[in-house]
Amino acid sequence: MGNDYRVKSTYYGGYPAGYLRRVKALFPDKQRVLHLFSGQVDLSAFPGDTVDINPKLKPTYVDDAQTLQRVPLENYDLVLADPPYSVEDADHYQTTMVKRNVVMRALQRLPIGAHIVWLDQVLPMYRKDAFEQEAAIGMWKSTNHRFRGITIFRRRDAKVSNNVATATKRRMVKQEELAGLYASAD
Ligand SMILES: C[S@@+](CC[C@H](N)C(=O)[O-])C[C@H]1O[C@@H](n2cnc3c(N)ncnc32)[C@H](O)[C@@H]1O
Repeated sequence: MGNDYRVKSTYYGGYPAGYLRRVKALFPDKQRVLHLFSGQVDLSAFPGDTVDINPKLKPTYVDDAQTLQRVPLENYDLVLADPPYSVEDADHYQTTMVKRNVVMRALQRLPIGAHIVWLDQVLPMYRKDAFEQEAAIGMWKSTNHRFRGITIFRRRDAKVSNNVATATKRRMVKQEELAGLYASAD
C-alpha cells in the first residue's frame, strides 16, 4: 500500500490511502463499479455506486449485504467489498456481524465475468461452481496493525465449469481405459 496508511475520511475501518487507486489500476476495463459495505469510501479515487446498511452514510442503496434485495447486481461488473472483520468491528458500526457465505450467495446474482475484490481477515466461504478465486494478495498496513488479505473472485459460468469438469472426468476415464488396454497387451 506504499507508506501512506492514513484513512482520508478518518472513518473507522476505512480503506487506507492508495488502496482504491491500486485496485482501480488492476481493472482498467471495468465500467460499472459497486462499493459494498461502502462506509465513507472515497468516490473521487474510484467512482461507483455504494451499498451500506447505515442510511446516515447516504449510500446509493441502503441494503443488507446478505440479501442485496434493492441492488440490481446484474448491472455491475466489479464489486469492492470491505466487511467488518469481527464482532468488535461490527459493534463500532452498531450492526451484527455479517455471515460472509450469505453475502457470497447474494453475489451469485452478478453477471458471468464480474469480479469481486474482497478485503478481509478471513477467506469467505463460496461455491466453487459460482466463483473462481483468481488471486490472493496479502496486505500489511504497518507494524502493530492487523494483517489483511485481498481475495479476487470471478463470477464463473456454472454450466461451463460443469461441462469442463465432465469433459475432464471423461478424458481421465478414457486415459485409464487406454492404459488398461496397453497393460493387457504387454
Ligand atoms: C470496514 S467498514 C467499510 C469502510 C469503507 N471501506 C471506507 O473506506 O469507508 C464496514 C461497513 O459495513 C457496513 N455494514 C455492516 N454490516 C452491514 C451489512 N449487513 N450490510 C451492509 N453494510 C453493512 C458498516 O455500516 C460499515 O460502514
